[in-house]
Amino acid sequence: MTQSDQRQLRDAFGAFMTGVTVVTSHNQQGQPIGFTANSFTSVSLDPPLLLISLAKTSGNHAAMTAASGFAVNILSEDQESVSNNFARPVEDRFAAVEWSQGPYGAPILAQVTAWFDCSMHQVVDAGDHTLLIGRIEAFDNIGLNGLGYVRGSYFRPSLEGQGAEALRSGSGIRIGAVLEWQGQILLEEKGDGGLDLPSVLLDGSNRKTSHQQHLVNVMGPSVSVGFVYSVYEDVGRGTHNIIYHCTSTEGEQLSGLFCPIDDMPMDRIADPATRDILKRYIREQAIGDFGIYTGNEQSGHVRQLARGT
Ligand SMILES: Cc1cc2nc3c(=O)[nH]c(=O)nc-3n(C[C@H](O)[C@H](O)[C@H](O)COP(=O)(O)O)c2cc1C
Repeated sequence: MTQSDQRQLRDAFGAFMTGVTVVTSHNQQGQPIGFTANSFTSVSLDPPLLLISLAKTSGNHAAMTAASGFAVNILSEDQESVSNNFARPVEDRFAAVEWSQGPYGAPILAQVTAWFDCSMHQVVDAGDHTLLIGRIEAFDNIGLNGLGYVRGSYFRPSLEGQGAEALRSGSGIRIGAVLEWQGQILLEEKGDGGLDLPSVLLDGSNRKTSHQQHLVNVMGPSVSVGFVYSVYEDVGRGTHNIIYHCTSTEGEQLSGLFCPIDDMPMDRIADPATRDILKRYIREQAIGDFGIYTGNEQSGHVRQLARGT
C-alpha cells in the first residue's frame, strides 16, 4: 500500500462511528499509564472478554503489552478534554484527571460512563498493531451518555438528540444566516430599532422546504447558502438555531442593513448569542479559518473546519 492508499484506508475506517475510551495500566515502575483508544470491541460474554488494538509505535506499547492487566474507561460525553489529554504528548497525563485504583488494580477515571478492569487474557500480534485481549474481572456501568467519535470529530449524543427531536417536531427551529458581502455583514432591522441576523422561524407547516430554500426565500435569489456555522439550543428564545454561512454576488439587491465587519454596531444587537456569533465570525474572518459551534446560547464547543473546505 502506498502512503496515500493508507491515508484513504484510515479515512474509510474513520467512517465507522465509535465511542471513545481511555485504556489504563501501570508500567514496571508502578506509575499509571494510559492512552486514548476508539478500537474497543466487546468480544465474549463467557468468558467475559474485550479487546483493544494498540499501535506498535505507541510510547506505551512495551509497558502495556507486558502488563498483567489493564482497564478500559468508556468516556462520557463531557470528557472530550480527557480524550485529548490521553492522546497528546502530556508529561503526566494523570495529573489532569481524578482517578482511583480499580478492584483488579488498573486506574479507573472519575465520571466515566462505564469501566472494565481486566486481567491480560492474550496479547496478539496484528500487523502494525497489537491486540490486547482482556478478561473482565470487575466492571461498572454508570449510565451516562457516552462521547462519540466519527471521521476525526467528537460528537455528543444528547446534543444531536435535541436537534433530531426538534427536527421531528418541526417546531421551534430558527434558520439564520451570517451573510458577508464586500466586507460587511447583513443584519435585519427589527421593529424596536434593534438588529439581528436574518432568520426564519419554522413551524409545522413549512418544515418540508429545505433550510437553503428558506434562506433564499427570506433574503433573495442571489444568496448562496454555504456551510453550517453555528448550531445551538437557545433556552431563552425556546428555539433550536441553525445558522448558515452565506454569500451573495449581488448584495446591493438584498434588503436589510449592511454593517462593516470592522465597525459592527454591537450595542444595537440585543441577543447575546447573536453577538457571540458575530464576534467569532469577525475573529475567524480575520485569519480566514472558520469553525462550527455546537452547544446552547451560553456554552458549547467550536470545532475548526479543515482548511480548504
Ligand atoms: C479518538 C481517538 C482514538 C484513538 N484510538 C486509538 C487506538 O485505538 N489505538 C491506538 O493505538 N491509538 C489510538 N489513538 C491514538 C493514541 O491515543 C495516541 O497515539 C497515543 O496516546 C499517543 O501516546 P503514546 O505514544 O504515549 O501512547 C486514538 C486517539 C484518539 C484521539
